[in-house]
This record gives sequence, C-alpha cells and structure tokens, in this order.
Amino acid sequence: MLTVRDLHAYYGKSHILQGVNLEVRAGEIVSLLGRNGVGRSTTCKAIMGLVEPVGEVLWNGKSLVGLRPDQIAHAGIGYVPEDRQIFPTLTVGQNLELGQKRAGRVGRWSFDDMFALFPLLRERRGNLAGVLSGGEQQMLTMGRTLMGDPELVIIDEPTEGLAPILVGQVGRFLDEIARRGVSILLVEQKLTIALKISHRVYVMGHGRIVFDGTPADLAANAAVRRENLEV
Ligand SMILES: Nc1ncnc2c1ncn2[C@@H]1O[C@H](COP(=O)(O)OP(=O)(O)OP(=O)(O)O)[C@@H](O)[C@H]1O
Ligand SMILES: [Mg+2]
Repeated sequence: MLTVRDLHAYYGKSHILQGVNLEVRAGEIVSLLGRNGVGRSTTCKAIMGLVEPVGEVLWNGKSLVGLRPDQIAHAGIGYVPEDRQIFPTLTVGQNLELGQKRAGRVGRWSFDDMFALFPLLRERRGNLAGVLSGGEQQMLTMGRTLMGDPELVIIDEPTEGLAPILVGQVGRFLDEIARRGVSILLVEQKLTIALKISHRVYVMGHGRIVFDGTPADLAANAAVRRENLEV
C-alpha cells in the first residue's frame, strides 16, 4: 500500500535522506529502526509532506509527492509525531472529537473503542489534556489519530520517555490496532517492542536503509545490530 523509492530530503544544504527504499503492505506492522539522527523522523515527515520529498512516495499506486499534509492524512495515512501534539486547553473528549473525520463516512473506531483500548482516557474524558502525564498524552495522540480512521498509521517513537510498564502497554495497543486491519509503520530506537510485534523491520544508517528482513533475521544478525542499533 505504501511504497517509498529512492527518497531524498534536505534541510537547507544538508542532504539528510539519501535514497530511502521501503514498503508497508496491507495489514503489516513494519518497524523503522536506527540510532539518533540517522533520519527516521525525516523519513516520516517526507512521507507526510511535512518535509519536501524528492523521489517516489506511492500510496495505493498514486503519488503523494507534492500533496499537502492534510491531503495525505485525508488519503488515509495517520501520523503520530515524536512531540505529542495534543490540544492542552481542550478536554480529552474534545481532543478525540477533533480526530474524527468531517467526511460523512462512519469510521471503524468509535469513542467506546477508544476507551476500551485506552481505559485511562475514559476516566479522564472530561479533564484538560494538558494535565495528562506523558504516557497519557501519548495514548491520547494515538487515539485522536485513530479517530481519523487511517488505513496506515506512522508512529514516531511512541515509547520514548515512557516508564517500562507503559512501554509494554503501547506494544499491546499497536498489536490490537493491527488486528483491526490498520497497518503500522513504527519508528523505534528500542528493539524490544519492535522485534516482538513487527512482521518486518528496516534498519537505517545515515540517510539510507542498511538492513531489511524479519525480526528473526535481525535477531540473528549481530553485526547489523552492533553497528546500527546498540548504543
Ligand atoms: N529542522 C531541521 N533542520 C535542520 N536539520 C535537521 C532538522 N531536523 C532534523 N535535522 C537533522 O537531520 C538529521 C536527521 O534527523 P531526524 O530527526 O530525521 O533523525 P531521527 O533518526 O529521527 O533521530 P532522533 O529522533 O533520535 O533525533 C539529524 O542530523 C538532524 O540533526
Ligand atoms: Mg526522530
């Protein structure tokens, strides 16, 4: 469904992405792994049109290059950025409502689904989003994105800064989301979750993919892990 071919991206004169190739098929959880600064977030932003993509980004066969971020979201790609983007002065419930598509179509996710998936959000439904903990804000951002009924969600480091108990929970949410037929492109630095829930993994070195394979392939490849993952 998502095909990225020879993708380049620049910040001014810095050539950050230097020919990234990757693919996410329907129903897959795919992880994009790599050390800090190799260009994982820039890859997400280039797919979403937040950074100018140079190269091919195909979504169900159609090019996304040149489209605005809102058009790309509307085409069915949800994006949960690194910096949790909640509206702090709105309530949890209002934040979720904002995620709902204006289009008349009924999405696959209801409020009750959100609260079943993230019970904490039900308790905090009337609270201002700004008072939630980091983990709760992360859940709210994911919930809001799902309310837009994406076919694919791109999630950038959802476990960053979370307590270990919440890290496991995020893994279970992602599993559940995929079970409902939503594909996931998960950006991570930590191997644990990615290896547990992914169907396939990509490892990024500086600006390009240096490994792709199954979690088992990566687990068996100590050299790739040593060079590109373990700190
Ligand atoms: N807005 C920006 N302007 C200039 N350079 C940037 C900008 N954003 C990122 N970079 C640089 O681009 C490179 C790739 O950054 P990116 O955010 O994609 O990395 P990453 O793999 O997501 O790592 P991390 O999330 O750990 O920072 C880094 O060298 C970073 O310093
Ligand atoms: Mg990043």
